[in-house]
Amino acid sequence: MSPANVGYQAPSVTVSSSLPKRKLDSSVLIVPVVNGDDDRAAPRVVANPFLDAKAVGEIEAALESLDAKGGAEQVTRVVVPSLPVSSVLAVGLGKQRDEYDVIRRAAGVAARSLNGAETALTTLSDIDLSATVEGLILGAYRFTDFRSDKTAPKDAGLRAITALTSAKGQNDVAQRAADIATAVATARDLVNTPPSHLFPDEFAKRAKALGEAAGLQVEILDEKALEKAGYGGIIGVGKGSSRPPRLVRLTHKGAKRKGKKVALVGKGITFDTGGISIKPAANMHHMTSDMGGAAAVVATVVLAAKQKLPIDVIATVPMAENMPSATAQRPGDVLTQYGGITVEVLNTDAEGRLVLADAIVRAGEDQPDYLIETSTLTGAQTVALGARTPGVMGSDEFRDRVADLSQRVGENGWPMPLPEELKEDLKSTVADLANVSGSRYAGMLVAGTYLREFVPEGVQWAHIDIAGPAYNSGGPWGYTGKGGTGVPTRTMFAVLEDIAANG
Ligand code: BES
Ligand code: ZN
Ligand code: ZN
Repeated sequence: MSPANVGYQAPSVTVSSSLPKRKLDSSVLIVPVVNGDDDRAAPRVVANPFLDAKAVGEIEAALESLDAKGGAEQVTRVVVPSLPVSSVLAVGLGKQRDEYDVIRRAAGVAARSLNGAETALTTLSDIDLSATVEGLILGAYRFTDFRSDKTAPKDAGLRAITALTSAKGQNDVAQRAADIATAVATARDLVNTPPSHLFPDEFAKRAKALGEAAGLQVEILDEKALEKAGYGGIIGVGKGSSRPPRLVRLTHKGAKRKGKKVALVGKGITFDTGGISIKPAANMHHMTSDMGGAAAVVATVVLAAKQKLPIDVIATVPMAENMPSATAQRPGDVLTQYGGITVEVLNTDAEGRLVLADAIVRAGEDQPDYLIETSTLTGAQTVALGARTPGVMGSDEFRDRVADLSQRVGENGWPMPLPEELKEDLKSTVADLANVSGSRYAGMLVAGTYLREFVPEGVQWAHIDIAGPAYNSGGPWGYTGKGGTGVPTRTMFAVLEDIAANG
């Protein structure tokens, strides 16, 4: 498998102002319906200029005969022979609504219910084109790279989207939404690729291929270069594995000479056993997602280049596999982080902060205005905020800006503090710092406090803990399937766009 022939191929998107004249094979028309939030009322098709009264009447009669409901995110498929599609999929909104996330989620739910149809047409886009395209592509995502013919889906999945809208000149809007969703799919593909196949060197190669295809400058440091330059955190974490660590740097140069400079850093632990401080067996396989931050960072810098953002974006991505072995680091070892701070490794399972500290110091050498770092850093994040709410820490102002933008794009990051007193808990008896505190309290904030020690003075920074949100181990919902979610790609891209627009 080479990077070129794996991964999800997003469907094509066409914007149109009318239904096709001739019947399309393997096609579905997705139509939003409402019932005024009253499940006893029959669903009504949301008014649109593409379906005449006869077609609307036929759809509503078919829905009524099935006793369909029209509540939020309920889907019902009906056959309407007079329409040029194989079937109609009604998706409920409850009340008539137009909020971005409501439409995106409705589109996502519909896309997960396509039953193998290759073409989706929709009038949902007449409410919000961008939300519809994003939701359809994200909802239609699937990961089939490792299925043999025995269990591979028989159909090719969603290949084409026709988004109906009466507004003119909307191609760019649709294209931007498709590009963002495709970047999220890239991050999902990387997370979903199992640790047998995505180890540091392979991850670095894929990041390079993706980066070069988008015109980025790419630099890869291998284990010898890392050792020589003093990346003690990345070397320490990686040395228990037969598959050596890497540090990947991807640079996008904005066209403007005086544009802002943003550093992105993402945790790329391709598998986290815990090392010698080994994790329990139950659910250890979820640790295939421990490179979710790195995946999102790679996808985001590639997207920034594709969108030609007029700012410099430099991604610094440490990649390592945290394994227990005769060559692994031990609890009690002392290592020297890149830049010279010494650390007593009291728990080898707190490895993310060790690779990130090196990467943050390296990213700081570029003198960025902003630094966004994201990682599946602590189980404590899920204890505090659950599986769908990233914790955002960092410099107060920038943290709030990142959390606010995260909420606007539907990834719902929430601001969290870094209380000064937690630093006390990271004191070591032998080194400058310990990598864990002795306390059971505020594990997410302690990890953020550790990272803060490595952020250069004057840099606005945000740390996004996505331990739960990077990987959906529950059932599918909205536009999110099982497995890799691609969070927080959309948050980081929104922040980059906001910096490009407002400084
Ligand atoms: N990769 C884990 C964090 C994690 C937990 C991610 C659950 C996704 C889901 C991280 O390396 C880790 O093991 N952290 C420890 C830190 C502790 C030893 C201070 C944890 O959370 O238990
Ligand atoms: Zn760990
Ligand atoms: Zn980890």
